[in-house]
Amino acid sequence: MPPVLLILPFFLALTTASHLPKRAICTVPSLADPAKDDVPAIHAALQQCGDTGRILMPLNNTYTIRSPLDLSPCRACDFQINGVLNVSDAYAYWQTQPYVIKAPNTTAAVIRSDGNTGVIDGNNCGYSAALKGASTYSRAPPLVSVLDSSYVLVFSGLTVKNVPGTAFYINNSTGIRFHSIAFEGGSSAAAVGYVVDAARHVYVWNSTIRAREGCVRVLTNSSNVQVEESTCIIDAAGSGNVDLQPSGISFYLSPSLLGRRLEWIRNVWVKSTKFVGEMDAVAFVPGGEGTVEVFNATFTDVEVGGGVKEAVRVYWEDGVKYNVSKVLLRDWTGTAKETSEFRCQADDICDFVKEGWDVVEGA
Ligand SMILES: *[C@@H]1O[C@H](CO)[C@@H](O)[C@H](O)[C@H]1NC(C)=O
Ligand SMILES: *[C@@H]1O[C@H](CO)[C@@H](O)[C@H](O)[C@H]1NC(C)=O
Ligand SMILES: *[C@@H]1O[C@H](CO)[C@@H](O)[C@H](O)[C@H]1NC(C)=O
Ligand SMILES: *[C@@H]1O[C@H](CO)[C@@H](O)[C@H](O)[C@H]1NC(C)=O
Ligand SMILES: *[C@@H]1O[C@H](CO)[C@@H](O)[C@H](O)[C@H]1NC(C)=O
Ligand SMILES: *[C@@H]1O[C@H](CO)[C@@H](O)[C@H](O)[C@H]1NC(C)=O
Ligand SMILES: *[C@@H]1O[C@H](CO)[C@@H](O)[C@H](O)[C@H]1NC(C)=O
Ligand SMILES: *[C@@H]1O[C@H](CO)[C@@H](O)[C@H](O)[C@H]1NC(C)=O
Ligand SMILES: *[C@@H]1O[C@H](CO)[C@@H](O)[C@H](O)[C@H]1NC(C)=O
Repeated sequence: MPPVLLILPFFLALTTASHLPKRAICTVPSLADPAKDDVPAIHAALQQCGDTGRILMPLNNTYTIRSPLDLSPCRACDFQINGVLNVSDAYAYWQTQPYVIKAPNTTAAVIRSDGNTGVIDGNNCGYSAALKGASTYSRAPPLVSVLDSSYVLVFSGLTVKNVPGTAFYINNSTGIRFHSIAFEGGSSAAAVGYVVDAARHVYVWNSTIRAREGCVRVLTNSSNVQVEESTCIIDAAGSGNVDLQPSGISFYLSPSLLGRRLEWIRNVWVKSTKFVGEMDAVAFVPGGEGTVEVFNATFTDVEVGGGVKEAVRVYWEDGVKYNVSKVLLRDWTGTAKETSEFRCQADDICDFVKEGWDVVEGA
């Protein structure tokens, strides 16, 4: 270990693991005061130990997040949240911020808790629960944003709650894994669980997503998105800023809105996943004008129930042509209130294949 790591600011404690390779460990002190910002101390720890070290936020400590937290100094670091990150309830401030926690251009970071004790409490960014659904509400920044070509990040063993907008926003990044992430439900449910925007190799495994508007939204230019052994629960539907029916996994494609004539999503794999609550389990939501291309999506071993409306809903939009190929719906069980409709037009390519479809529809 380079000796420079031993020269520490007074507020950081350092211990070293007894085994090789040694990791620098920065234990972040907490000010234990919701009126004081712990982010500067977390940033100092990231500066000190972010390069292959460990940043430790121990169990039973609460860290107040009163300003944006930037994880980018984490290079092959172990960012361990065993206590609570408590986002301040200053909505007037947060609505002007693009993110609460961000990982831009970040490589090989592990953001996790040891023993599933870590919690990120968004406190709704201070936005009054009574006003959920009002238009200002959607100005809440994502809780965690992964941006600008981040590469190989792992988030695991964390509980997230009171997220006013999107919990995890992944944009223009590759190799982003989420496992054993639990979302608290009821009035603590997030508006949206995950948004995958122009990202590749995004994996969600062993996660319970509790959301009001949608569990996973996939946007254009995304490929190799997988959701496995997970549960999507729509809680308190309608209490979010909902203009569409809530959905489990949705494909949002709006050509022409950003000047493009074609938007696409490829290689989606959803396996052993349950959808519970008032939603369309899988939804294709086009907008704008142009062509929407979905290639190679498999949904296998899927269970729907608890008030699911359509198991698969394909929305129709004037001016949008579908080019859907190799979409396989295999081994589905459960009940849905309405019969799935594939609202394709005569000149669309709509290659949806059902195999082993055992959903009781119109129940
Ligand atoms: C955390 O708090 C619990 C309950 O107060 C206590 O039993 C436990 O020993 C504490 N753990 C640590 C690491 O301080
Ligand atoms: C977390 O933040 C909220 C909102 O600022 C505050 O009311 C609460 O006391 C904080 N919790 C802890 C344990 O600091
Ligand atoms: C991304 O990080 C690398 C260092 O890892 C740096 O060389 C590069 O300039 C950064 N790119 C951007 C766009 O910030
Ligand atoms: C993705 O992020 C990198 C790093 O910031 C940037 O250089 C690149 O232009 C971005 N990609 C697109 C399509 O904007
Ligand atoms: C997402 O990434 C694209 C580049 O791929 C960029 O143009 C856009 O501004 C990003 N959006 C956000 C919210 O960061
Ligand atoms: C799955 O996630 C839950 C927390 O949501 C955790 O308790 C459990 O240990 C995880 N299972 C595995 C196999 O990692
Ligand atoms: C789509 O992603 C690729 C990187 O995989 C990037 O080069 C391209 O610019 C992106 N296109 C758009 C329209 O965002
Ligand atoms: C289809 O997608 C899966 C991942 O979801 C990938 O493993 C497979 O190679 C893809 N097939 C084609 C023909 O691209
Ligand atoms: C439809 O999509 C497939 C797969 O992405 C592509 O090969 C084909 O050329 C597209 N067809 C049309 C008519 O756009």
